[in-house]
Amino acid sequence: MPLTINGTEHSFSGDPRTTLLDFLRRDCGLTGTKKGCDHGQCGACTVLINGQRINSCLTLAVMHDGDSVTTIEGLGTPDDMHPLQSAFVRHDGYQCGYCTPGQICSAAGMLQEAAMGWPSFVTDDLSAEVSLTADEIRERMSGNLCRCGAYSNIVDAITEVKEAGR
Ligand code: FES
Ligand code: FES
Repeated sequence: MPLTINGTEHSFSGDPRTTLLDFLRRDCGLTGTKKGCDHGQCGACTVLINGQRINSCLTLAVMHDGDSVTTIEGLGTPDDMHPLQSAFVRHDGYQCGYCTPGQICSAAGMLQEAAMGWPSFVTDDLSAEVSLTADEIRERMSGNLCRCGAYSNIVDAITEVKEAGR
């Protein structure tokens, strides 16, 4: 079963119970995606599938025939960072860094959702253009927990990228 990961074609033929998270980490060696809870509660395993964010611990690899998966390794490299990656560095958006790949992949998906006009639980005016206030960012990123509590700097980093329109 073929799927594309970070622009490279991969093939999955293992145990159909294998989660996408385990396939990425164990079989593809893409250990940037982290396993926190393995139960859909922390967001550390967030990746993008066809541009949309998903908890990779809650989906099976076998369900992604033909899909395009982007992990933190595919968003940018140390020499050519994604704008969110460099903003997280500039704003100190992490401490231990364990949640960071998931935070950044989630933020990338979230910015797209807002650009497409998707409302959130705290959106007051459903007919107006989405304004990514700090409250909106916090709500939309609430599926990504940070045990180090770097939340305010994470919001600052995302706000900078949003304001730069990148
Ligand atoms: S490891 Fe997937 S949500 Fe926590
Ligand atoms: S930086 Fe440590 S868990 Fe978020």
